[in-house]
Amino acid sequence: NDIPLREKNIVLIGFMGVGKTTIGRQLSDKLYRDFIDIDQEIEKLHGMPVSKIFESMGEKAFRQMEKEFITKLCTTTRLKIISLGGGSFLQEEIKQVCLANSIVFYLDLSWDSWKDRLQLIMDSRPVLQNKTLEEIEQLFYSRQAIYETNNSKVSTDSLDPEEIADHIIDTLK
Ligand code: S3P
Repeated sequence: NDIPLREKNIVLIGFMGVGKTTIGRQLSDKLYRDFIDIDQEIEKLHGMPVSKIFESMGEKAFRQMEKEFITKLCTTTRLKIISLGGGSFLQEEIKQVCLANSIVFYLDLSWDSWKDRLQLIMDSRPVLQNKTLEEIEQLFYSRQAIYETNNSKVSTDSLDPEEIADHIIDTLK
């Protein structure tokens, strides 16, 4: 399509708790671009946390909101930094819209590093509730294939959020 590369939205994807929001904010500060976190926008729109949306309306309704919000945003805006929810690429339509209109970075983390963060993020993530560690590990690995896109993977294991943001900016040059 006809969006110049330097004006395309930058979209961050990856598993829950990998740092999409933190790194998105860093990118926003460094590039002087607006930052949009999809989960936070959906929370604002509905006046309740994502966990409550899952509880009262169900996951299906949340996925529908996610699809509407992301497709609209990705097809009507430029120059934004957008962090997606970790489940959004489960919907092929979202993935295709993002890949067609934006520069997508997949933030990857090893299972060993990720599992140390589980306690911190668990309470606010309905998808992780009532699961054994083994089931969460399975989910972690099955999601990796979904996030995989052409050469946009950023390994976040040994870098802090600011270094990761700098690395992403370098690859844009
Ligand atoms: C989800 C990830 C969450 C949020 C929802 C579902 C998922 O976003 O959208 O709880 O299915 O992976 P984060 O990746 O920002 O935690």
